Amino acid sequence: MGAERTETKKTKKICVVGASGKLGQYMVRHALERGYEVVGVCRERSVPKLAAFDGLMTVVPGDTNDPEVIRRAVDGCDGVLTVLVPWGVRQYASGTAQAVLDHARPGARLVFSCGWHITRDGRDRYSRMFTLGVRVAAVLGRLVRAVEIDDQVEACRRVFASDTRWTVVRGSSLEEGASQGLPVWSRHVGDPVLASDLTRRVDFALFMVAALTDDGLVREAPAIVGCRTPSALAHAEGPSGHAQPKGPKGGKRI
Ligand SMILES: NC(=O)c1ccc[n+]([C@@H]2O[C@H](COP(=O)([O-])OP(=O)(O)OC[C@H]3O[C@@H](n4cnc5c(N)ncnc54)[C@H](OP(=O)(O)O)[C@@H]3O)[C@@H](O)[C@H]2O)c1
Repeated sequence: MGAERTETKKTKKICVVGASGKLGQYMVRHALERGYEVVGVCRERSVPKLAAFDGLMTVVPGDTNDPEVIRRAVDGCDGVLTVLVPWGVRQYASGTAQAVLDHARPGARLVFSCGWHITRDGRDRYSRMFTLGVRVAAVLGRLVRAVEIDDQVEACRRVFASDTRWTVVRGSSLEEGASQGLPVWSRHVGDPVLASDLTRRVDFALFMVAALTDDGLVREAPAIVGCRTPSALAHAEGPSGHAQPKGPKGGKRI
């Protein structure tokens, strides 16, 4: 209880942008459990998906790339958790990121979600299969005008270039299931600890929420993996001589 209070002392009111999706709903739940006041943004037609949180949070309906919607939603927030999705072909992800960067209060903690395909410094090492999969998804997605992976890349480029207090959390492949605890993370895809490439979605959300109060993650782009996966367990002690700073609430960078 004491620890919980300390954790939320710095960040009390937060906004979840993209609250109605699967990741968004998990984040809302974790944030409420930690005692945050929660504001959520989602498309008007998706508001009913948040019915379980009636009376527990404030919902601002609207497109997440609408600057006016975001301006109202993030007003007074100490932290903003943003789900960046590559859906649609109307620069939805980059518009969403830009609106958050422009309207969050100076000094607010900004945490964005994306996948391993996003690279900050070009030093990630992807398997051929992974690279092929992303390329196929990008081409097919553009053809059917449903997915715009390049725009998610652009969204993260803008975040990386900003002087805000950002963190870009890069999720592995996801699965549903009960929480296993805070994922572990590494700076680069291709690092052995990440080899299992699997995280429970509920724990992805846990990492996003925990990042709000972890200053060690400011301007980092952690690639995460479930803490109970074989690769995480195999590297739990870390290769000899490899520094292991503590991540959020016990989550480790390995
Ligand atoms: N899925 C994976 O395997 C995977 C792997 C690694 C990383 N990630 C990352 O995890 C995060 C969450 O992804 P998720 O797959 O788990 O999905 P999710 O949490 O269910 O979220 C999907 C979001 O996209 C919105 N959306 C759906 N169609 C849309 C459209 N046409 N236009 C605008 N918004 C639309 C949804 O809004 P509504 O509720 O309004 O429909 C919802 O907010 C993303 O940042 C993703 O890059 C996912």
